[in-house]
Amino acid sequence: TTLADWTREDNYQNSFLIDHDDDLENALKASTEAGLPEINVTAAQGKFLQLLARSIGAKKILELGTLGGYSTIWLARALPDDGQLISCEVNEVNANVARKNIERAGLSSKVSVILGAALDTLANLKPEPPFDFIFIDADKPNNGNYFAEAKRLVKKGGVIIVDNVVRNARVSDMRIQNDVNCDGVRDLLKRIKGDKEVDCTTIGTVGEKGYDGFLYAVRV
Ligand code: DHB
Ligand code: MG
Repeated sequence: TTLADWTREDNYQNSFLIDHDDDLENALKASTEAGLPEINVTAAQGKFLQLLARSIGAKKILELGTLGGYSTIWLARALPDDGQLISCEVNEVNANVARKNIERAGLSSKVSVILGAALDTLANLKPEPPFDFIFIDADKPNNGNYFAEAKRLVKKGGVIIVDNVVRNARVSDMRIQNDVNCDGVRDLLKRIKGDKEVDCTTIGTVGEKGYDGFLYAVRV
């Protein structure tokens, strides 16, 4: 199977399960036009994140790595009227594109995009109730550090998802050395092994972006 096959499969499955959505499609279009890399989650993955947030009744969501706000919109749509999503983005161009996309989707009242290094932003969050759901999709070398912060900030029983933990099966290929993205995932996995404060599994994903996976963690 090739990427074309998986793209066809995504499109086929999505045609039954996922409605066309102007806000989400415009968000991708605006992101591409602004020169952002097309490394957003797929529609099927975005909808998975949304359904998961809805399933656990998430009212407070944290996202690390906003990019153009595509996953942000999927997640924010899972929130009740009084729900809140904070998304951290280090790149000013990305943050501005995302804020516009979120505004156009009518979600500005629920979503704050905070410009800055996520570890600084999180260290300075004012005390508030813990998050129900945290999605980590930022720079991969910091995965372990982000996960440690997510553990601190998520409620007991809450969910943490980390994107891009399979990377076309490169993570386990020890011929691949000095790849900062693979090393970031390996570091994360090493730090989780034996950690009794989380219970985790990897969900492999395949689709129009190829083979990858989510790490799914529940805070114990
Ligand atoms: C890539 C994909 C991602 O989902 C991401 O968050 C970062 C990078 C990539 O394909 O390079
Ligand atoms: Mg990603």
